[in-house]
Amino acid sequence: MVSLSRIALLVTAAQSAVIPRDAPVGLKVRQTGAGQNAVTWDKYSFYVNGERVMIYSGEVHPFRNPVQDLHLDILQKIKALGFNTVSIYVHWGIVEYERGKLNWDGVFDLQPFFDAAKSAGLWVIARPGPYINAESAGGGFPGWGARVEGQWRTSNPNYTAAWQPYIDSVGKIIAKNQITKGGPIILAQPENEYSGFMNPDGSLNPNEDTEYERLLLEEFDNAGIEVPTVCNDAWIGGHFTSVDVYGYDNYPAGFTCSDPLSWPDPPDYFYSSHKDVAPNSPNSILEFQGGSFDSWGGFGFEQCYKLIGPEMARVFNKNTYASATHLLNIYMIYGGTNWGHLSNPGGYSSYDYSAAIAEDRTLREKYYELKLQANFLMVSPAYLTSAPVDVQKFPTNGSNITITELLDEVGGKQRFYIVRQTKPTETTSSAFKVDIETSVGKLTVPQLGTASYILPAHDSKIIVTDYPAGGAEILYSTLEIMTWKVIDGRTVILLYANAGESGEIAILTTKTYKVDVRRGKASTVTSKQASTSLTLQFVVGHETVVALGEDILLYVVDRVNAYNFWVPDVNLDQDLPVIIKAGYLLRTAKFSGNTLSLTGDTNGTTVFEIIAPKSAQAYTWNGVRLDTDLTRYGTQEGRYRTRTPRVDIPDLARLKWKYINSLPEVSGSYDDSKWVTADHTYTPNKIKPTTPVILYASDYGFHSGNILWRGHFTATGGETTFNLTIQGGNAFAYSVWDGGKYLGSFTGAPAPSAHNGSYTLAGPWVKGSSHVITILQDHMGLEQNWFGGEENFKSFRGLSDYSFGGATPTLKHWKVTGNLGGEKFVDWARGGYNEGGLYAVRKGYHLPGLDDSKWASKSPLKGIKGPGVEFYRTTFTLNIPDGVDYPISIDFRSSTSTSFRVELYVNGWQFGKYIDDIGPQKSFPVPQGILNYKGENTLALSLWSLEESGAALDSIDLVVRSEVEGGVGIVRNSLAPDFTERPGSY
Ligand code: GAL
Repeated sequence: MVSLSRIALLVTAAQSAVIPRDAPVGLKVRQTGAGQNAVTWDKYSFYVNGERVMIYSGEVHPFRNPVQDLHLDILQKIKALGFNTVSIYVHWGIVEYERGKLNWDGVFDLQPFFDAAKSAGLWVIARPGPYINAESAGGGFPGWGARVEGQWRTSNPNYTAAWQPYIDSVGKIIAKNQITKGGPIILAQPENEYSGFMNPDGSLNPNEDTEYERLLLEEFDNAGIEVPTVCNDAWIGGHFTSVDVYGYDNYPAGFTCSDPLSWPDPPDYFYSSHKDVAPNSPNSILEFQGGSFDSWGGFGFEQCYKLIGPEMARVFNKNTYASATHLLNIYMIYGGTNWGHLSNPGGYSSYDYSAAIAEDRTLREKYYELKLQANFLMVSPAYLTSAPVDVQKFPTNGSNITITELLDEVGGKQRFYIVRQTKPTETTSSAFKVDIETSVGKLTVPQLGTASYILPAHDSKIIVTDYPAGGAEILYSTLEIMTWKVIDGRTVILLYANAGESGEIAILTTKTYKVDVRRGKASTVTSKQASTSLTLQFVVGHETVVALGEDILLYVVDRVNAYNFWVPDVNLDQDLPVIIKAGYLLRTAKFSGNTLSLTGDTNGTTVFEIIAPKSAQAYTWNGVRLDTDLTRYGTQEGRYRTRTPRVDIPDLARLKWKYINSLPEVSGSYDDSKWVTADHTYTPNKIKPTTPVILYASDYGFHSGNILWRGHFTATGGETTFNLTIQGGNAFAYSVWDGGKYLGSFTGAPAPSAHNGSYTLAGPWVKGSSHVITILQDHMGLEQNWFGGEENFKSFRGLSDYSFGGATPTLKHWKVTGNLGGEKFVDWARGGYNEGGLYAVRKGYHLPGLDDSKWASKSPLKGIKGPGVEFYRTTFTLNIPDGVDYPISIDFRSSTSTSFRVELYVNGWQFGKYIDDIGPQKSFPVPQGILNYKGENTLALSLWSLEESGAALDSIDLVVRSEVEGGVGIVRNSLAPDFTERPGSY
């Protein structure tokens, strides 16, 4: 409910022409980090170490990847996009699962991430919360917060006392890794979308809590954070303007994965709204839609990708450039996995997000689209001082075309024209001509011939004028520029358009050049030499290379071929100008002696082209010499045949599986005396139950995974039914037993987060007899808390009401358990969220190294008869060679119509929650480092059957999802303990 109203609020704000403008005009600038001049800004852009820069960033959540050695893989992929920054959230609830005990060890240590960012050559925007949202458990808030009374995300002193130790601790880690201390962090963001506010009674409050904001900034200061602070208002609403640089978020395509082209019209107003709120700082979008979340019963990320794939990046990202956005962070660039119950109830195990880099770390087409755009901006410094002049619409000239003109206000000359369809959902292309302002006067392009340009559906283009590219003064180009470099005195310009389109580039020159088509068909090139300019028109094919004397080399390629080109930052800090054609991924480039050493990933046969200074005389690819030939235009070309060795992948169905019953709680003799007695009669929760004792799991320290309740009663005689109101979060389920007799289940559905059930008891209870009602429920994660002041994350998991029909028995007591130890969880290495409350998991049977030889043999494909829970284990060996990257997933096929739930543990790490009848996820990527690629692996899974008919898996397979040669290098397994007997476990 609340998340719906939140989305409604965002959509209304995003679509309405009336933008809340309650903010003071102009920003108060916090006087921070006296003497800090590493990161500064003016009204146009940031400067880092004195250099004016575009901050082009991608969002990644280190907590969604528990393999430290894989961070570098993602970060190199981000760097290779041409981005210079990565933005991160830190999840408070994970690192302070038990209040007062911060866990920055092992996979939770942030240092390897910061070190990897530095070695990849990226800056970092650190966003530690305390609130982060992020579709994560509690939105970042810890489970114990349910017991901290009063409003959260306000200056409520109880809340302040809760977050201060965490912000102090994470703040010091951030401070240590700031750019001023030699680290990569350039900006820090307190809170998240502090934009919507609630009163304690749930009504909307128009005011933000500025005292809370002050306290947060003060704590950042106290921790030693001296880089500028930023905020991410959910829309340009002028909230939290006390940070140094105001910023906002934008998700223009929405999250309607059901309807892939349900894009709204791109908004035109960003620039003026930004100017109203923050005229003295750069237009900064701290989160811009890079994908979509998806919920239980949703459409799956491949379907969402249709909504926010490369087309969306073309139309909507370019629209942010039309608003002169000079800090842009793509949320998410890599989503990762909600391993170990990290999701909120609105999501499932995969947080793929349909991002440019998929959950299994492979690259989607959107990645390559972003690479074209980012590289262009990185070689277009005038963009950073440009601002929109006008939003023109051309209803006659091109019926459905909107063109925004940006002018470089500082240089006063360069212009950028961003062309898009006015209604981007249009399915037909539009013809257009553009009047452009240039230093030689107004021109209408195209200049050669009479034809108009065609803008295909779902596309957008950037036209430049008076654009200096090294030795070439580009008067205008209607072909898009990917990059340019001056190499040994010759300017190389890489231009692209869709295959078959025509485009022009005009160069200001008084020289007369022979238009020398050295590659491609000469017939596709038309030219016109005038006294001060040379205009060339191309019909764009795969690749045309034109030399203009020794001065200029033009590559004109179709967009898909442009994807093959890379512009690595050679030696990270040494600017050896190179452009490299290298196929799938070019990670790094180093130059020493006369050798240019390249690393990256290939699939299939890859054509290399090295466009580099002559000082680079030898080339290596992943350490192996590349044989190349000289092209007709002085570059080096070669072919590389990828070697991806075949590997044996075990057939999981044929392995020996062992199993045990994992629901001993419903057997007559079961002893629950070691469980926590649920005997509280007061709950800090605002929702007061009708039960005689509190039956909310978080009140007893259980915040994730399965929860079990056992109510002990003495019969009055004649009890016939048991009725309850129970809550577990969207898509939750539960089963109920009376002693050993199964009473029934609620099998769940995507939306319901609570349920009222009524179950017929095993038979009318006999007066004086003892009974135990056992309830096994799913906990789908703590809710988020998007509104400041609300307490939604405290939504209880458990029972708010129960009663009996026929007669009312006497309650002896209730018992509860979740994960062993609750907040004092046992497995420090894998963290508090990894385990749930099932018997086998409490005992640690999901861990490697357990001697299960005495367990009976049975496979989960045989499955369980009747309702209940069984726990299965098997082991298998992988032997995947170094030098390749073969991401693997564990896949299930759709099953019969019965309801069941599976939790997957790989070497002790919970890496998937599979609910076939709710879906949509059936394929669970498990990264190298969790899977041991060189040796034994333990796979364990729980199978909870919610029906009398029992349940079995139809299939379970290890699937190699992609095969590339290359990879990030050695990936060590994440260290975590094997099984040992757990004293006191039950
Ligand atoms: C934003 C929020 C992010 C994330 C995103 C949707 O509003 O700041 O944390 O929840 O929405 O994926």
